Amino acid sequence: MYDYLLHQKINAAFLKLKIGKDEADLSFYSRLIANTSVIKSLYDELYQHHSKAAVHFDGLINCLATAHKKRRIALKKRDTAKAEKGLWFLSNEITGMSLYVDNFCGNLTNLGDKLGYFKKLGVNFLHLMPLFESPAGESDGGYAVSDYSKVDARFGSLDNLKTVQQKMSEADMYLMIDIVLNHTSHQHEWAIKAKQGDKNYQDYFYMYDDRLIPDSFEKDMPDIFPETAPGNFTYIPECHKWVMTVFHNYQWDLNFGNPAVLVEMLDIILFYANLGIDVLRIDAPAFIWKQQGTTCQNLPKAHTILRLLKQCVQVASPGMALLGEAIVAPKEIMNYFGTGNFIAKECDFAYNATQMALQWDALATGDTRVMLAAQHELLKKPYGTSWITYTRCHDDIGLGYDDYMIQQASFDPYKHRKFIKDFYSGNVPGSPATGALFSVNPKTQDARISGTLASLCGLEKAIATNNEEEINTAINRIIVMQAFSFFIGGLPMLFYGDEVGYTNDYSYLSDPAKSYDNRWMHRPVIDWAKNNNIDIDGSIEQRIFSATHLLNSIRKKLPMLADCSNLTWLSPYNIHVAGFLRQLDDKRLYCFFNLKNEMCYVDWQTVKEKGNPPALLFDHWQQQEYVVGRDKEYLVIEPYSFCLLEAV
Ligand code: GLC
Repeated sequence: MYDYLLHQKINAAFLKLKIGKDEADLSFYSRLIANTSVIKSLYDELYQHHSKAAVHFDGLINCLATAHKKRRIALKKRDTAKAEKGLWFLSNEITGMSLYVDNFCGNLTNLGDKLGYFKKLGVNFLHLMPLFESPAGESDGGYAVSDYSKVDARFGSLDNLKTVQQKMSEADMYLMIDIVLNHTSHQHEWAIKAKQGDKNYQDYFYMYDDRLIPDSFEKDMPDIFPETAPGNFTYIPECHKWVMTVFHNYQWDLNFGNPAVLVEMLDIILFYANLGIDVLRIDAPAFIWKQQGTTCQNLPKAHTILRLLKQCVQVASPGMALLGEAIVAPKEIMNYFGTGNFIAKECDFAYNATQMALQWDALATGDTRVMLAAQHELLKKPYGTSWITYTRCHDDIGLGYDDYMIQQASFDPYKHRKFIKDFYSGNVPGSPATGALFSVNPKTQDARISGTLASLCGLEKAIATNNEEEINTAINRIIVMQAFSFFIGGLPMLFYGDEVGYTNDYSYLSDPAKSYDNRWMHRPVIDWAKNNNIDIDGSIEQRIFSATHLLNSIRKKLPMLADCSNLTWLSPYNIHVAGFLRQLDDKRLYCFFNLKNEMCYVDWQTVKEKGNPPALLFDHWQQQEYVVGRDKEYLVIEPYSFCLLEAV
């Protein structure tokens, strides 16, 4: 039904801000009109019964109009250019790198001078790890924000960030930063006021006078950091209350049941959008809605919030895509792309954490069957959305895939997971890996894995024993892992340091602000003298860097690698080899990955099973042509190698 009052509200906001003169205003107006009813109904789903729902809804509309008004003309033009491209973020021409600015190069000003390095590697998208003010010593790598609009002095200033964005935009690069919306630092102004007894701000958090409600919540909520931050509530002596702290005790969970919180966070999101951010990484979205009697993860209303934010961003800054950082089970992750009427209308991206973990699984066992058992779930990703594909990031590796997937591969889930964890934490004799267990839960024996790509692939041990053959094998493992995430579909996201094979950095152990968290072992401090070895032929750094660069350039020139939901798994009749076909129109690429430390054979029949059998294939990796043989003749793949075979 036509909502007269709603449209009056929009008109009032337009008049107040004097919007409505130019083409960009008209486009904004159309977007707002087209989306407001949906925005309103999502808002009502959350806040219909809240006593201040109406006033905060006015605040929301005002927030959208103000953000549009403040958006620079250059950004509005960039929005239009992206819209004209269509689903720009599905492109095979974008490769990302995630990095800590301080560990990578000191500060934002220096980062502006490093763009040539990224270009040389073929990286044109940066994820800058949290940059906004966060108390030293209680920062969780920046994921405990005390001021969302002030860049932390250790990185520089907001102006420095704007300059980097400008330089990146001129260099045709994309920028991603985080919005940490599940929680703030206990030193955020809202938390400080709450501690001082301000009721208004106490309502921004989940605060309780006694343990009654916290105890009831605790019955169903798991611990995220069981070793270092057990429990989900922290006592605050200043106000004699208990506050919900799902992560560390210095990270206070925001109460999205309060519409004031939603509007505040939307305002910050649109402030980031207006800095020229291309993709916004929504940190920990699985946790943003809490309800007693549940695990407080992946709840339906968390999705309502994400949908609402998506609609708002689409209206005020349509060029900014959203990445939901939900590291959840394969079945759950699909919901973050939207369901029902909201399919492909929630998060544009999600991390393919399942695939990432399965690659580590297959590398440890040399067996691809568990990976294959998961694919029917992962293929459900809707058209128009994409994955972030990766081998390592700043977080730990969780073996979050389902038990039945392990059973289908004829393994016992408990023993299998134990083997993988032991393998990477150095508890399996002969394992090449040097990693560590992270967040061991003494009750469930659950644990995740820390370690850099290179160390988990065996480079640390191989260098320590000066074993040339093992060094080669480790490099091959690194490259086959990276290749997998470059070609499986989605935006590949490198983690800084991995492009030159950084092994674990144990310096965190002497920093009391970090020593309790072994994820820091895989967040290296970059030594540019080491990175400069990329110019020395035959050095480890040069070999890994140039192979990574080659993966980039192959991916960029093959249009079938855009993520158009165009992946079909193949049956190589060999459990050590995973194979899939990427197809776009008449262009086809057959990809095979050998995850075993032995030569593997793939029956040519494999490439003939999915329609129109190719006669000739060109391997972009080895730069070699193959005539497709008869059935029971074989394509031979070296240990830890792969083939990227285009039908010619
Ligand atoms: C996300 C971040 C992780 C952080 C957590 C709490 O999962 O990736 O590093 O510890 O959120 O903010």
